[in-house]
Amino acid sequence: MLTVPLLDLKPQYAPIKEEIQAAINRVCDAQYFIMGPEVSELEQALAAYCQTQFALGVSSGTDALILALMAINIKPGDEVITSPYSFFATAGSVARLGATAGFADINPKTYNLDPAQIEAKISPKTKAIIPVHLYGQCADMDPIMEIAQRHGLYVIEDAAQAIGSEYKGRRAGSIGHIGCFSFFPSKNLGAFGDGGAVSTNDSALAEQMRILRVHGAEPKYYHKFVGANFRLDALQAAVVRVKLKYLDSWTAGRQHNAARYNQLFIEAGLADMSNDPAAELVLPSESRESGQYALRTEAAVEPFPGHRHIYNQYIIRAQDRRDALRAFLTERKIGSEIYYPVSLHEQECFADWGYQTGSFPLSEAAAAQTLAIPIYPELLEEQLQTVVNAVAEFYRA
Ligand SMILES: Cc1ncc(COP(=O)(O)O)c(C=O)c1O
Repeated sequence: MLTVPLLDLKPQYAPIKEEIQAAINRVCDAQYFIMGPEVSELEQALAAYCQTQFALGVSSGTDALILALMAINIKPGDEVITSPYSFFATAGSVARLGATAGFADINPKTYNLDPAQIEAKISPKTKAIIPVHLYGQCADMDPIMEIAQRHGLYVIEDAAQAIGSEYKGRRAGSIGHIGCFSFFPSKNLGAFGDGGAVSTNDSALAEQMRILRVHGAEPKYYHKFVGANFRLDALQAAVVRVKLKYLDSWTAGRQHNAARYNQLFIEAGLADMSNDPAAELVLPSESRESGQYALRTEAAVEPFPGHRHIYNQYIIRAQDRRDALRAFLTERKIGSEIYYPVSLHEQECFADWGYQTGSFPLSEAAAAQTLAIPIYPELLEEQLQTVVNAVAEFYRA
């Protein structure tokens, strides 16, 4: 049986092994481990790639968010509007600064913050909006920026899953005031451990983050602010510098795989190219009579003009049979993952914020129904077919 892991980094590493090892050896020979030339070279390359004036390497995507929120002076009592359907760090970073997340529900097609839901959540305490570019697809940034401008709010893009993604021809991380990236190994641009970056076009914010990244010291040992250690290691920077050169070819591989999935799901009678939300799924589940659909794939999603999806994940929506489908795939040695099973407003640690189950029904539905299937660039055509055949078999059973 052909197995299909959710992610296998070994075929990415094999062809660039020597180049990566040479970069690691360069750092070993220099014995310069914290910041230094490897980090500044990477920062220049990242700024160019993200189409921003500044980029700073930091210790993780989570720390990128915390640093960005510190730079715009988020403090206890403030509110930050964000999506309840994201990785924990998006809201966790807000909580770490003593502020509160004012959640707004998602667009169920893109899984990103729905701009139409934002305005009603703005209060005198609101200081910023964090749109998350989930799964590698940008949130609808024009209306978000327009709302932010009208209310004098900062916009921090959580682009942890979206390096190189574009919205109307503009790169993720270049549209809001600050962009936050993660180099967690499973990201499209992964380090050999934790790492991340912030991007901005604002020189004052860049300077503020540069200082806060080293305990708020400027110059060294003279502390203007209380910052923290948000530094990126030279070893991680050296690895990411090598990988950045290959990122566009890996993205092309992911886009190819997504297009093949779309096509194969349509051929299998599991999806429809129509953008009509009522016609997007053709193979019904058990609940066919009740008008429910069985599966929704990327094929049904209308992209923004000039949009570039980098497919950190490829998501199918399996309605009421998600967990059974996942068990069926696991049995056939096909990897999958649930990103994310619990909406952020339902997390136990945020109970004090007072949200109830049912407050964000579209986010809760996504948490209950979606499944990520393998999309990494090196997947073979037979593996893609194996995944689609297994999904089709499940629905035909
Ligand atoms: C949307 C989102 N935000 C933030 C993060 C945090 O990044 P890290 O794991 O590098 O701290 C991640 C990744 O895990 C993420 O997916």
